[in-house]
Amino acid sequence: MGRLTFESFEGGERLVVDFLDGETVLEVAQENNINMEGTCGGSMACSTCHVILKPEDMHRFPSPSEEEAEMLELALGVSVTSRLGCQLVLGDNAEGLVLRLPAETRSMME
Ligand code: FES
Repeated sequence: MGRLTFESFEGGERLVVDFLDGETVLEVAQENNINMEGTCGGSMACSTCHVILKPEDMHRFPSPSEEEAEMLELALGVSVTSRLGCQLVLGDNAEGLVLRLPAETRSMME
């Protein structure tokens, strides 16, 4: 169990939430009514779970798989520290993490 922070792209809004070990960023976002669509339910087919890590937090998670990197290329507002929230598994690695939400997302359902 731990605690992390979601912040708006501009940084003006912040929400501190609890997570359980083994949950993904997508699951925690949805449990807390964060605007993260997660259209494909974590099967790396949408990129609507895009989140942006701080550069200093990149080492907390394993590098993205080739599939994740390819899907991120389709995300709007992608940056070098972007990840798919459904692929980020939380545990001791994520205590105190701050995640920025992208300015906009692209829904594959539209
Ligand atoms: S929920 Fe679709 S790629 Fe993460």
